[in-house]
Amino acid sequence: MARNPSFRSGIPSSEITPEPVYLDRRAFMRGATALAASGVLLGACGSDDALPPAPAVADLDPSASARPPTATPAPGPKVALAGPDAPPKALASSDELGDGLTGFDDVTGYNNFYEFSTDKEEVAGLAAGYPTEPWAVKVGGLVDRPRTFAVEDLVKQFDQEERVYRLRCVEGWSMVIPWVGFPLRKLLEAVAPTGQARYVRFETIHDPARMPGQGGGPYAWPYVEGLRLDEAMNDLALVATGLYGKSLLPQNGAPLRLVVPWKYGFKSIKSIVKIDLVAEQPTSLWMDAAPNEYGFYANVNPDVPHPRWSQSSERRIGELRRRRTLPFNGYADQVAHLYAGMDLETYF
Ligand code: MTE
Repeated sequence: MARNPSFRSGIPSSEITPEPVYLDRRAFMRGATALAASGVLLGACGSDDALPPAPAVADLDPSASARPPTATPAPGPKVALAGPDAPPKALASSDELGDGLTGFDDVTGYNNFYEFSTDKEEVAGLAAGYPTEPWAVKVGGLVDRPRTFAVEDLVKQFDQEERVYRLRCVEGWSMVIPWVGFPLRKLLEAVAPTGQARYVRFETIHDPARMPGQGGGPYAWPYVEGLRLDEAMNDLALVATGLYGKSLLPQNGAPLRLVVPWKYGFKSIKSIVKIDLVAEQPTSLWMDAAPNEYGFYANVNPDVPHPRWSQSSERRIGELRRRRTLPFNGYADQVAHLYAGMDLETYF
């Protein structure tokens, strides 16, 4: 997709952050010293500058690729969400593969949320104070019991549990995040999908007055995503309401967002106001913008390159060396059966 200059401030973070702070953060928090030195910028989904460097074999962490991708995550322990002033706290300290959590500051300070900005380090500042109360999500379409849920009711109605998931962005970076939320399946069961429902369509709030990115550009706002109904009913698909034991911050998609850990991060749509059960496969914002680059399925697949870069490895935020990307982001045991007999190059 063509790069759209109107979406960018044109000022690299190196120019708006004092240099020593910038260099220090890059080196120690993102492990991106080499990138900074070579002048390569990690871009956002679909921009022409989204060209993660091809990894040298020596750059890969051998211990990461040797780990068996077969462990099953334990069901999450029940948690109560703490208020915004509570210190960030996770019950777990690693995922089921033994990988440590990405730091709270990175999870909340390095974000893709095009409604605010295409600059990941600018999103949190621009989203700060975005009003997320009151908030309701309208769930309807091909269901027997359509309903609008206030977020505070959802949090009471469905047990909140901690789920530590890997998030793999299509751009080639990843994090390990202790989400708080509840299985999407529970919400769908509450509205009773009819026999005609085959897909689930999700929509982000449309608020161009307060979301500068929605003011123009090439995208068909609001942000839309979709899942096949059986994918949506899989236990891993989570409606997140918090992370690190606290309610979600606006930059992470407050007050509720989807998390689909076996798919590229762009499927995990933020700040949802509408969910519809539908008969036809929905067209997502990214499919509409660049259909040859972003498919409906978007399952993490190291064997199918993005048209502009390899997907065989990734940079875990906070680490220096790249690690191999795992099929289905390491969740094959739980989800590979959903795609039995499908050609995963065709259905990318
Ligand atoms: N949802 C909306 N509404 N708008 C976005 O720009 N970006 C997606 C996804 N959900 C996005 C979105 C992408 S590309 C990624 S990688 C994840 O959000 C990033 O989530 P995080 O910022 O909480 O890490």
